[in-house]
Amino acid sequence: MARLKHDWHGERQESRLAMKTIDDLEVSGRRVLVRADLNVPLDGKRITDDGKIRASLPTLTALLDRGAAVVICSHLGRPAGTPDPAFSLAPVASRLSELLGRPVVLAADTVGPSARSLAAATPPGGVVMLENLRFNPGETSKDDAVRGAFADELASLADVYVGDGFGAVHRRHASVCDVPARLPHAAGYLVQAETAALEKLTGNVRRPYVVVLGGAKVADKLPVVGGLLGVADQILVGGGMAFTFLAGQGHGVGLSLLDGDLDAARGYLERAERSGVELVIAPDVVVAAGRDAADPAQVVPSRAIPDDRMALDIGPECSRLFANRLAAAQTIFWNGPMGVFEIPRFAAGTRAVAQALADSSGFAVIGGGDTAAAVRSLGFRDAAFGHVSTGGGASLEYLEGRVLPGLAALQAG
Ligand code: 3PG
Ligand code: MG
Repeated sequence: MARLKHDWHGERQESRLAMKTIDDLEVSGRRVLVRADLNVPLDGKRITDDGKIRASLPTLTALLDRGAAVVICSHLGRPAGTPDPAFSLAPVASRLSELLGRPVVLAADTVGPSARSLAAATPPGGVVMLENLRFNPGETSKDDAVRGAFADELASLADVYVGDGFGAVHRRHASVCDVPARLPHAAGYLVQAETAALEKLTGNVRRPYVVVLGGAKVADKLPVVGGLLGVADQILVGGGMAFTFLAGQGHGVGLSLLDGDLDAARGYLERAERSGVELVIAPDVVVAAGRDAADPAQVVPSRAIPDDRMALDIGPECSRLFANRLAAAQTIFWNGPMGVFEIPRFAAGTRAVAQALADSSGFAVIGGGDTAAAVRSLGFRDAAFGHVSTGGGASLEYLEGRVLPGLAALQAG
């Protein structure tokens, strides 16, 4: 039974244990709808990091070995509820096929004639991938009936449901929350492994517990800071998130990314001060005229970003400060790159934080597809860290102690 109260840790723990896994499911000869998170970073049609696809393999392989016909669904990017070739899962289907060593047939639609006929024709051991869930407005609709109608169509494609898209379990979306209410269901191995690892960061963690936040989805992640104030000892803020805090304090941030509620950011700074949590905002930054501008990059104090410059990385003083704090930490969680790491001259901050986590003698967790991809692209191996999570927003909300709708749906009988 799912329990929706989230402020009583004992109850939360108990409900987490109640999740069935695929080992409890009868799958032989049945059609299994697997909700994976295959939202990988793309450069055009090229996958720049296939970590999420690899992370989905244990569940898929186990189901196929046990004689299931597998129907995979995922979102990719944020298309606006209508088909858009730029967000097709085609590159993902072909990479998955290479990794599985068997064909993965991509349907031309998500729940339309192509999906229905391919799902019906899939033999045991066969794999079909539905087109991007977010090509359909029902996937993300806030209207329960609209989402429910789409969930009915998804559910009609299979006999059982496996939730394995950890990176999306914080989304109240049809494929995540409404389909499991319609089919026998269980959690996949990735969801199991992720929750087991993140559980070590809740309850009695070894302190100091330091959280590092960056990245560009600021409006999404800013509210998490409020939740983490009661959990972490220090929160280090760099990357895109820093500017919302700086602007919230009344500083000019030039052309830097601003996304999120400035009043909320200021409120968190005040709350942090009252509650004795250190909320450290990057003290210096690297600025340029733009990401792709030819001008030499400059280091400036964060409180003196020129009006015509954009901050694109944390500065060297910030890197040193964060590395020192991380060296003293016993538990670390990091989500969000410190700068535009794809461009070498703005990668130093992200590299410094990654190195500090790799050097840590504590339990260091990297959370988020983009952060993990950044760290791998800088040459770090996953094995250098305590855990590398495929979910950024999902892991942050888990650490805050919230009930994640997708996990609650898997726990419900
Ligand atoms: C992610 O990449 O964080 C997950 O796939 C969720 O994507 P979303 O933030 O677009 O819901
Ligand atoms: Mg992401």
